[in-house]
This record gives sequence, structure tokens and C-alpha cells, in this order.
Amino acid sequence: MNKKLIRGTSTFFQEKFNQTPSYHISSPGRINLIGEHIDYNNGSVLLGTIDKAICFAISKSETNQSTIYAKDMDAVKTFHWAANLPIGQDTWFGYIQGVLEEFKKRKLPLCNFNMVFSSNIPMGSGLSSSAALECGFASALNVLFDLKLSKLEIVKIGQQAENNFAGVQCGIMDQFASVFGKKNHILQLNCDTLETEYHRIQLDAHSLVLLNSGVKHTLLDSSYNNRREECAQGLVIIKKHFPHVNTFRDCTENQLNSIRVELGDTIFKRCLYVIQEINRVPQAFDALKQQDYAKLGKLLYQSHQGLDELYEVSCPELNFLVSQTFDEPGVLGARMMGGGFGGCSINLIRKDCETAFKTKMKLAYEKEFNLPLQSYQVNLSDGTSCLLIEPNPTSQKHIEL
Ligand code: GLA
Repeated sequence: MNKKLIRGTSTFFQEKFNQTPSYHISSPGRINLIGEHIDYNNGSVLLGTIDKAICFAISKSETNQSTIYAKDMDAVKTFHWAANLPIGQDTWFGYIQGVLEEFKKRKLPLCNFNMVFSSNIPMGSGLSSSAALECGFASALNVLFDLKLSKLEIVKIGQQAENNFAGVQCGIMDQFASVFGKKNHILQLNCDTLETEYHRIQLDAHSLVLLNSGVKHTLLDSSYNNRREECAQGLVIIKKHFPHVNTFRDCTENQLNSIRVELGDTIFKRCLYVIQEINRVPQAFDALKQQDYAKLGKLLYQSHQGLDELYEVSCPELNFLVSQTFDEPGVLGARMMGGGFGGCSINLIRKDCETAFKTKMKLAYEKEFNLPLQSYQVNLSDGTSCLLIEPNPTSQKHIEL
């Protein structure tokens, strides 16, 4: 848990509610090494949890109202937990409402609560701050009211809040990574069966670096859902010709090529990307295990090319960040990460070149787009964690979620 973030959230809670919180929950952001836009297409993905998180401080309320402070946004909401609230302007509160709706649907016994949350995950940067908010809040309610929800139920509540309330038909990977991440491990998640395999990452002389384009990415517009819809349409046509195909996992490029005209140009490109990306993930996982970083890097570049040219979810800023690395000594691979249309690129780089690389990229990016470029080193961390606050600080306990 990030001590500074917890301290700030806790102090703020005490100032506002004049009591110490009962629990602290830390809900982190995520990276996806490879396997983009295939979580909702039955593919596998290679996830990791980062050391940037949203911290929640929460206690039961003594009144018949719940109060939430979004510390970083200087915003507050007061309401009864069971009230049917109108959909407001504040995006953050929409996610909270979405989670509450999912609890209500499941008839889970809640009461009013007081909460503060604060984050150091850069928002809109493709690091899944929304999944961290949904799953962190769901975990906070889970421990506070002793609901005994499993980790997977928390993940599904988070995903369904996003699907049903925010209207983004996202897959499961962001919420899964935020909850199930493990320190120093990459997690391979089969999004078809939800089977997982953790691999202790030993990058040795290499590191993963994120470059934040600063282009705010929001999936709340229709492009994300459009992509999902195009894939679904493609699969219907594929199945018509090849009845043994259940998911994109079973389909080959040859089969796809044979029905190219019927698919039409756009849907053909989307399906081709999905089939190729599904095949890249196990290769990347093997490369990682065998510490074949050159191969892993190549796969990252191929993934980016597919996302840009076939899936068409990149943008000029991300393309610039990736193409600048082609002749950069020490960079083995790079690609845009997450839903796209902005956010971060992820770079696999030799450690000894890291400092020079960051400085050079910053200058080049500022010159080209007149935008600042932030960079973050990826430190793989644990998923959602919870701390029970006892009156005596030496007896604080980590709670298993
Ligand atoms: C967003 C969604 C995920 C996933 C990625 C793309 O982050 O929330 O479910 O589809 O985009 O890989």
C-alpha cells in the first residue's frame, strides 16, 4: 500500500468526519503487456498491477445519510445509499452509482457509510482508473458490511457497473487485473475460461516504461462499443461458413481470407486483427518465460501495427511515441496500451538506456505536439488490498478480501 496516499486520505477523512476510518482499501491500476481488445473476444491477455492506486477510507455512518468526498476533485456527495439518484454530470459519481446499483440488484444488505477516496493513477491514461474505482468501492462495501463476496464477484460487479451504468461494453481484464494482480508477477488470464497463470517476471537488465501521451482517453464515446459490435457481426458471418468455429480462437486467417468479400473491408480488418492478436499472446508469454526479450519486443511492435492499421484505435500522438522508438538504441518493443484513442504507450527497454530514452522522448514529443510527456516505470504490485484500522496503530491488520 502506498503510505503517503493512505496518510493523505486518512487525515482528510478525520478532518471531515471527526473520527478515524474503519478500513483503508487500496485499489490499483493495471498494465496490459499484450492482448488488446481481445478480452471481449475470448482471447488471453498478459496483465500486471501497478504501484499506482486509488485509496479509500471508509466507516459506517451514524446518520441516515452516506457522504463521499472525492478528495482530488474537491467534490462531495451526500445521499441515502438506497435512494434512486438522478444521473449527474460527475463521471466519478456515475461509477459509484453503477456499483451501488449492482449491489441493489443482488439484494445485498447495505447501510449508510462515510467515505473519502484519493488517487495517484493518472486519469484517462489507459491505466484503468475507472476499474480501480469500481472494484475498490465494491471491496470497501464488502469489508465494511461483511458481505463475504468473493474476489471474482467483486470483479464482475465492477465490470457490470461499467457495462450497465457507464454504458461501456468492456471486457473483464481491467477489473480482473486490479483485484487479482500479484507483486512482481505477470498474470495470463484466459478471458474465455477465466483460468489464470502467474509468472514471476525477471526482466533482468530490462524494464517496462509507460509514456503518457496526455491525450485523455475516454471509452464513454461510441468507438469502443462500435469495435465490439463489428467483431460480433464478423463472428456471425464466420460461423455461418464454418459452423465448428465457436469463438475467434477457433478461426484461422485462411478461413477469414476465404470470406473476405462477404465480410467487407472494415469487418475483415477488425477480425484479422483479433485472430492475429489472439495468436501473439501465447507466443509473448513463452518469450517472457524464456527471457527472449527480442522476440517479446517484436510482438509488441506487431500488436501496435495491428491496433493502428487494422483495429484503428491508435492516434497520431501514440503512433509518434511508438515510431520514435524504432531506431532508439535499447528499445526492444513498444505499443499503445489499453482501449486506445489516447493514453499511454508501453515500452520494453534496456535498463541502461532508460534515462537517456526518457529525456530524448520528452524533448521530441514536446517539440512535435507541444505537449508535456510524463513517464512512469512499471513496478508490478499486488492487487486490491485492505487494512483494518485499530485504535492502536501497531495492531492494524491486513484483511484477506
Ligand atoms: C479497455 C476495456 C478492456 C479492454 C481494453 C482493450 O481497457 O475496459 O476491457 O477491452 O480496453 O484491450
